[in-house]
Amino acid sequence: MDANQDGIGDIAGLRARIDHIHQLGVDAIWLNPTYPSPQGDHGYDVSDYFDVEPMFGSLEEFDRMIDDFHQRGIMVLMDIVPNHVSSQHEWFQSALTEGAGNPSEEHFIIRDGTGPGGVNPPNDWVSIFGGPSWSPFPSSGRHLQRWYLHMFDPCQPDLNWHHTDVHERFENILRFWLDRGVDGFRIDVAHGLFKAPGLPNRSGFGDNWSACWDQPEVHDIYRKWRKIVDEYESSRFLIGEIHTATRERLLEYLRADQLHAAFDFSFLHQDWSSDGFRDRIGANLDLWNDTGCLPVWTLSNHDEIRHWSRYAPLLADRSPDGQVANIRYRSLLALIMALPGRIFLYNGEELALPQADVPDEDRQDPAFFRQTPDSDYKGRDGCRVPMPWDANLPNAGFTNSEPWLPMPEEWHDYSVSIQHDDPNSMLNYYRSVIQRRRIEDWMKSDSIDEVESSSDILSFVKKTENKRVRVLMNFSDSDFPFDNDNTIMRTSDSDISDSFLRPGELAYIEI
Ligand code: NOJ
Ligand code: CA
Repeated sequence: MDANQDGIGDIAGLRARIDHIHQLGVDAIWLNPTYPSPQGDHGYDVSDYFDVEPMFGSLEEFDRMIDDFHQRGIMVLMDIVPNHVSSQHEWFQSALTEGAGNPSEEHFIIRDGTGPGGVNPPNDWVSIFGGPSWSPFPSSGRHLQRWYLHMFDPCQPDLNWHHTDVHERFENILRFWLDRGVDGFRIDVAHGLFKAPGLPNRSGFGDNWSACWDQPEVHDIYRKWRKIVDEYESSRFLIGEIHTATRERLLEYLRADQLHAAFDFSFLHQDWSSDGFRDRIGANLDLWNDTGCLPVWTLSNHDEIRHWSRYAPLLADRSPDGQVANIRYRSLLALIMALPGRIFLYNGEELALPQADVPDEDRQDPAFFRQTPDSDYKGRDGCRVPMPWDANLPNAGFTNSEPWLPMPEEWHDYSVSIQHDDPNSMLNYYRSVIQRRRIEDWMKSDSIDEVESSSDILSFVKKTENKRVRVLMNFSDSDFPFDNDNTIMRTSDSDISDSFLRPGELAYIEI
């Protein structure tokens, strides 16, 4: 929500809409980076880790926001971005301006190029956003062209984590925000930070992973971070955005003296298949078993296509009225809410927002601009179009001026103002399922059993001391007959007494 009408959401806007978040019933919010940033990668290019981006507000406002949330019993998680800084960060600016060999250069990964005069990058690493992960760095009269490493956009130079200044700086950053009352951090690219010694070509390894990511030194850093966080209340929390080549490598981040949790991203790429969901659930339960860290389920985030659009089109031809898509979407929430662990929702999924179709000329995501002409990848703007609040206002009440990404006209129909009082709206469905999880112990329970999939039906059993509930979900295209006695909830609005599950439908059944 944009409070000062410059087209960009801000802290005052968030505070103005805090009731929406509160009524949703969540325990915590996670904010994408709010630090001063040129917004080259929408805040993931931080120029000062000890302040708030003026466009979003001020430190004082941030403090008031924390109080507002805490008063409502909602925790606040920040994003922390340790792999790279903004090219406007004071360290990179000093490195650029102080002349070759100055100590600030040591904070980054700067190397001589290869080939005649160093015209080629030092190695063959590629940026996650496309293209080489090296850009020219001033050579200051040296013989060879120099280059600096950026695993993302050129505006995000990677830090040199072999330098103790970097360690110290990030420890101070953690303390700075923990002292202000922040409840924890989502660690951006937590598997990044260190690179393989000698920066070997990835072609030698056959992939980008073994050389550029997930180096053993990173674990000492998280051990230190965990110690810092443990100096505060036990509810303070570190969750990593972690991608590793193998499950064994992921385990290393979740040792008892490191991070509290890691996102599971598998549902973001999971086809509509009961076997697939069963396998993903099973893998996460195993990970939990091995680490003691509860799983973290998520269906959408700021980097991926909104899950309405991922799943709904699969059935569009069979369900012209969208009803089946609607049931599927409801079932997915009911599914993850019945699993043991933590659930992260992405803003707007409670309104069933689809992926927005952003015209190319309005796109902002650096990942879009680094694609080759033959690429179909459009970047991440389509999931970042702001929330529609009020159907009667321009830009659905997000802003009076031009929103930073254009809002599709039809999004007025998704507005909170319309869904708020409609008992059948997706918003009220989300509220009721979240509320149900608060009340019903079997939903929160860590005890899960009989995770099975057969004939496109996914099922598992949740238990408390005095209740056993079977969760049944129909991934097939046909009705599935089931023994409907003791149904607690089902996700279609079909007659609760019907003794078959519709396609896409889920039921909670006491057994
Ligand atoms: C992962 C974040 O989720 C994404 O939005 C960002 O572009 C990259 N890390 C780089 O910081
Ligand atoms: Ca604003």
